Amino acid sequence: MFSPIIWRAGQLQLLDQRQLPKQETWLAIDTVQQCSQAISDMVVRGAPAIGITAAYGVVLAARQCYAQHAEHWREAMPALLRQLAQARPTAVNLCWAINTMQTHFAAVIGHPEPALLAQAQRIHQDDIHANQTMGALGAQLLPQQAKVLTHCNAGALATGGYGTALGVIRSGFAQGKISQIYADETRPWWQGARLTAWELLRDGLPVTLLADSAAAMLMQQGKLDWVIVGADRIAANGDVANKIGTYGLAVLARYHGVKFMVVAPRSTFDLSLASGAAMPLEQRDGRELLCFQNQTVAAQGADSFNPVFDLTPAALIDAMVSERGVILQPDAAKIAAIIS
Ligand code: MRU
Repeated sequence: MFSPIIWRAGQLQLLDQRQLPKQETWLAIDTVQQCSQAISDMVVRGAPAIGITAAYGVVLAARQCYAQHAEHWREAMPALLRQLAQARPTAVNLCWAINTMQTHFAAVIGHPEPALLAQAQRIHQDDIHANQTMGALGAQLLPQQAKVLTHCNAGALATGGYGTALGVIRSGFAQGKISQIYADETRPWWQGARLTAWELLRDGLPVTLLADSAAAMLMQQGKLDWVIVGADRIAANGDVANKIGTYGLAVLARYHGVKFMVVAPRSTFDLSLASGAAMPLEQRDGRELLCFQNQTVAAQGADSFNPVFDLTPAALIDAMVSERGVILQPDAAKIAAIIS
């Protein structure tokens, strides 16, 4: 099972997604500070992958704290973990993973690394299993000869392995149910063109790329059955934060009678938020929009608006798939019954 995150010989290694598809470069991460930086800089990205990386970051933090104050390593941890939790704001998997790791601190005797590493590896493995389960559940919803569109990268690169939205597409394709896979290029960071296309082609799945703005025409021409996306955070009522452009796709899908599926593990649900109204939606440096590969492409002096996530109301979602099951037309009561 391909994973963009590896723990090898006491070291965290991350596939540098900024370099794909041109180069496959693995970065060695030795400290929790490097781990926070790698998440902020999008060496690793995608909500579940960010969470798993943070879990290994907690292992590195514990190693650093134990080396400095063996007796009092626990007391030194909160400052480092606060910094880690702030590496990116929208993917709730980041805080979920740190909190999950923290629940194991009390039981540790002696050096914390072995016990915490085992826990981080469990989080990583559980994510892969959840993706496989969601893949099978989501594929059941697809008709024969399905034509599907995905946005951003919600694949192996964004998770512990296999993917959420791409897990459903992988599973559906393996069952012979999918006749056409479309992927939005996903401006401004090109997750679709660079990452989704790379990992699908690597696994022998054909993919057709389109400019984000071409999705409307695809739907108008009747060339789509399902839009399938992942999520960075899902509120208790089913509102979804995901890659910028997701909301537009959901509106278009409803207008054209195309079905809309969100695929996300339990760790992406934030039941502390009643709705998406208070969701933190990250804005990133405008240079991501104005430049391409460090070359300015926009007219000199143009200002930028670069929100990297948007909010899709639950009312626009036909199916929400988690490892706990499928929720059709999600709302607060159905989510509480399955997720909480
Ligand atoms: O900015 P990114 O690349 O981290 O955004 C990722 C997404 O929006 C994904 O769709 C989401 O995290 C789900 S990944 C399984």
